[in-house]
Amino acid sequence: EKGGYEHFMAKEIMEQPEAIRKTISPRIQDGRVVLDDLALTARDVAEMDKLCVIACGSSYHVGMNAKYILEKLLRKPVEVTLASEFRYCDPIVTEHTLALVISQSGETIDTLAAMREAKRLGAKVLSIVNVVGSTIARESDGVLYTWAGPEIAVATTKAYSTQLAVIYLIGLYCAQLLGSIPQDEYDGILSELQAIPDKMEEILENRSDIQYFASIYFNHPSMFFIGRNLDYAVGLEGSLKLKEISYIHSEAYAAGELKHGTISLIEPGTLVVALAGYGALFEKTMSNVVEVKSRGADVLGLTTHSRAAEMAKTADHVISVPDTHPLLLPSLEVVPMQLLAYYVALQRGCDIDKPRNLAKSVTVE
Ligand code: F6R
Repeated sequence: EKGGYEHFMAKEIMEQPEAIRKTISPRIQDGRVVLDDLALTARDVAEMDKLCVIACGSSYHVGMNAKYILEKLLRKPVEVTLASEFRYCDPIVTEHTLALVISQSGETIDTLAAMREAKRLGAKVLSIVNVVGSTIARESDGVLYTWAGPEIAVATTKAYSTQLAVIYLIGLYCAQLLGSIPQDEYDGILSELQAIPDKMEEILENRSDIQYFASIYFNHPSMFFIGRNLDYAVGLEGSLKLKEISYIHSEAYAAGELKHGTISLIEPGTLVVALAGYGALFEKTMSNVVEVKSRGADVLGLTTHSRAAEMAKTADHVISVPDTHPLLLPSLEVVPMQLLAYYVALQRGCDIDKPRNLAKSVTVE
């Protein structure tokens, strides 16, 4: 049942390229994104005042990516709120607000309750769900399923990747209706999206490199993930994956925020995973790498192949992923982060598929 893998998590990490292909290919026809299952007209999109992303946990981290991606593509404000907070923050929602609800299980009670509140306030609800016929899917105005197949490991991997793929589809689809990006940019992003599964396969083939880094760092008592913009959003997910399955304390920070407090925690032996894939901010993040290095941290860098040599001048070790359109980087960068968490937890002998205190579907508030 685990397809020859030791854990469901490993199997599901390896299934990601195929899961993304299944999620995107039926929705791309003649060089365009076609979302027939999306109950949104051109007028709805034009009149949209903002998008409210509502989710928990890793699905919330997809929402953090979505903020950067959709604001860039649509030039509309995107607010990302933890579902458990949404109901209690007197959210500003109008009939022109699109609530984008993200949930693998479609049953997370906080997400469901927040979604009902958004609906009550007049928002149109579009959900991104993996489990067909789940409550969130049934109660939404429109649903875009992630075709990841059943996810068994408690720590989500392929659901995250396919949720993110759907964010690109929504972004491209709405951008076309709005005319908010030039056609050549649309074409470029779409073709890079279609190339993601192959590029992901390249990362997965080289997974033994990450297993090696895990063998060096698995005993570090504390790990920090730093990055800017989309690299920061991926860092949040890398940090959550690590703590939930390896029980190592870890935090993710926007790289520029370190010096406002957290840098006091950096001491010799602290591991800092520095994400610097986003070319426009590479130098900025590298300046933060220099800061943590000078305080004795060990730095494991993550960037693209084209910047790996440059990053290796400062970082102790570098993992690199294939180059792609900057907006698509999270799809690739998240894979080494999942593998790092997996191999660290493996070295530590943890119960990877069923970490302590956690349930796959959280149906209590
Ligand atoms: C982390 C993880 C959780 C879920 C969260 C939301 O690996 O799996 O953080 O992402 O509980 O669950 P769904 O997406 O089912 O609403």
